[in-house]
Amino acid sequence: MSLAEIVEPKEYAPSYLLSTFSTAALPLVVGAGAAPHVDVLCSWLRSSPEWVESTLLRHGAILFRGFDVTSPEAFEAIARSIDGELKNNYLGTSPRNALTDFVFSASELPGAYPIPQHCEMSFTKHPPRRLFFCCLRAPADGMGETPLVDFRTVYRELDPAVRERFENGGIRIIRNYAGPGGGGTFDLWKLKRWDEMFATTDRAEVEKQCQAEGFEPIWGPGQSLRLVSTQPVFRDHPISGERVWHNHTQVFHLSAAPGEYERIYDLRPTLRHWLLLQLSRVLVRVNRAWRSSDEQSMHCTYADGREIPDADMEHVRDVIWHNLVIIPWRRGDVVAIDNHSVAHGRLPYHGARQIAVCWA
Ligand SMILES: [Fe+2]
Repeated sequence: MSLAEIVEPKEYAPSYLLSTFSTAALPLVVGAGAAPHVDVLCSWLRSSPEWVESTLLRHGAILFRGFDVTSPEAFEAIARSIDGELKNNYLGTSPRNALTDFVFSASELPGAYPIPQHCEMSFTKHPPRRLFFCCLRAPADGMGETPLVDFRTVYRELDPAVRERFENGGIRIIRNYAGPGGGGTFDLWKLKRWDEMFATTDRAEVEKQCQAEGFEPIWGPGQSLRLVSTQPVFRDHPISGERVWHNHTQVFHLSAAPGEYERIYDLRPTLRHWLLLQLSRVLVRVNRAWRSSDEQSMHCTYADGREIPDADMEHVRDVIWHNLVIIPWRRGDVVAIDNHSVAHGRLPYHGARQIAVCWA
């Protein structure tokens, strides 16, 4: 079946974004051409598993553009045509709302929050192999993109000396959660409650899930819970064997917000972004002064507890942003991602936006 017209992503980008395309192969874009029907796309995908597999392996992501995807159900049908084993257990940090049994809002975090690049649930024992996003409502301000980065490239391009410091034992992740009924104090970094994340109020069940994932649960005053886990900073791709930068350091480290806002302000120098940058710098300074590493809402150190130098974190962000691929959302877009090799994030936006997610 001749369904797709395949074009390079740069043809879809406004000229002001062209400079961000340092990885022209990511994602492969499949346009709808004269056949925009979801059922046609689904039947083509179901009949082309080898093409999907090899394309995701090579390019890391595929963007399906121009199809009449207007509901979570249509999105789920496309995702199922690529991978029939969708999952719905989520141990990540973003607050999400269910749209179907397997499709969720990508993140209910306020639009001003940047989400640094990460492979989904990289801190769990078995992260998803594939991740899918769908644009049900494009942001009115044209921002709020979901940038992609090939983390195979990031691993290769990191300064070997910096990489060695990370690889020498890996990293230690600290997350602090309030429990049922607990709101705690105002904190921009505050995570959702542990009973929301584990979908239970039963401490024994939480401990069971923690044991399965390698998290050490430490119960604190009231209903609070601290999770501590250590992991390597890389994974080898299960099919190609390529080494991949596969961790949440750039999300969990306390310097994440100002580190991201600095680069967002460079990309989009607006007053709003400048104010958010200044605010995040002040709040990080206050947090560092008043709380130990283990008391931060989320943070990470080297595995032995030593702090990661800010310069090393800056280097990691520089390499990631150098490889960032930013494509503005259009309504109906569906992106399929090889979560073993390609990371995603979110740029700030203002106003209405609805991006859905599912994974396998
Ligand atoms: Fe994510």
